[in-house]
Amino acid sequence: MRKPLMAGNWKMNKTISEAVSVIKALKSAFADVEDVEILLCPTFTTLYAVSNEVKDSNINIGAQNLFWETKGAFTGEISPVMIKDAGCSYVLVGHSERRQYFGETDETVNKKTRAALVNGLGPVVCIGETLKEREDGVTFKVIEKQIREGLAGLATEQAALVVIAYEPVWAIGTGKTATPDQAQEVHAFIRKVYAQMYKDAVDKVRILYGGSVNSGNVSDLMKKPDIDGGLVGGASLEAESFIKLVKYFK
Ligand code: PGA
Repeated sequence: MRKPLMAGNWKMNKTISEAVSVIKALKSAFADVEDVEILLCPTFTTLYAVSNEVKDSNINIGAQNLFWETKGAFTGEISPVMIKDAGCSYVLVGHSERRQYFGETDETVNKKTRAALVNGLGPVVCIGETLKEREDGVTFKVIEKQIREGLAGLATEQAALVVIAYEPVWAIGTGKTATPDQAQEVHAFIRKVYAQMYKDAVDKVRILYGGSVNSGNVSDLMKKPDIDGGLVGGASLEAESFIKLVKYFK
C-alpha cells in the first residue's frame, strides 16, 4: 500500500565531482528498481549538478534543509522555491544534527514543514529521542511532542504527503541500530499519534527508520509493518553499499 522509500543523507560530504560520480553509478544500478522509491540528499552546492545528472532516471533529489520564507533579506539561507528550482522534490526537515548544533526546535520544524508543502516539496521530518531520554523512560513523551508540535496545522492532503523519519539520536552514526522490535514499537506509536491528528492521512504517511541502517540490517527492519523505508547516512556515501541496501529485497 505504501511504496517503500530509501533515502540517502550525504550530510556535509562530497564536492561536485565526487557527488556526480557516485550519482552516475547509482543511476545505472537503480535503472531496474521499481518497487522502492529512491531519494538522495546531497549538499546545497551540489544539488543542481546532481539533479541534472538524474533527469530521466528513477532517482529523486532532496535538500537537507530549507528556510521558510520564499525570498528576501535572509543572508545565507535557501528558500523552498530555490530548492525546487534546483531540481529537488523532497527536503529534510529538523534532522537531529540541526536540532543539536543549529538550534532548530519543533516550532521551526513546523514552519519549515509548512513552507516545503506549500511550495511543492515533500518534507522528510526527522524526530527521535536522545540516549538520556530513552534511559529516563521519556521516549514516547518526546516523540509525541515532536509530532504534535512539528506537524501541527496541516491540511489532510498535506498531511498525507509528509514523510516522517524516526531516528533515535543514539543510533545515528554510532553503528548501534535500534532492533527491529524497538523501532517498530516507536513507529507504531508515531502512527497512532498521527492518526489522532490526521485520521484520513495516516495510512498514506511513510515512516522511515534512520540510525546506522546498512545492507546487513535493512531487511529485518523492513519486515516490520510500520517501517516504510530508511534514512541512511554513512551507508549511502559509497555507491556499492547504497546499491546493496536499496536492493535488499532481491
Ligand atoms: P547514519 O545516519 O546512517 O550514518 O547513522 C543517519 C542519519 O543521520 O540520517
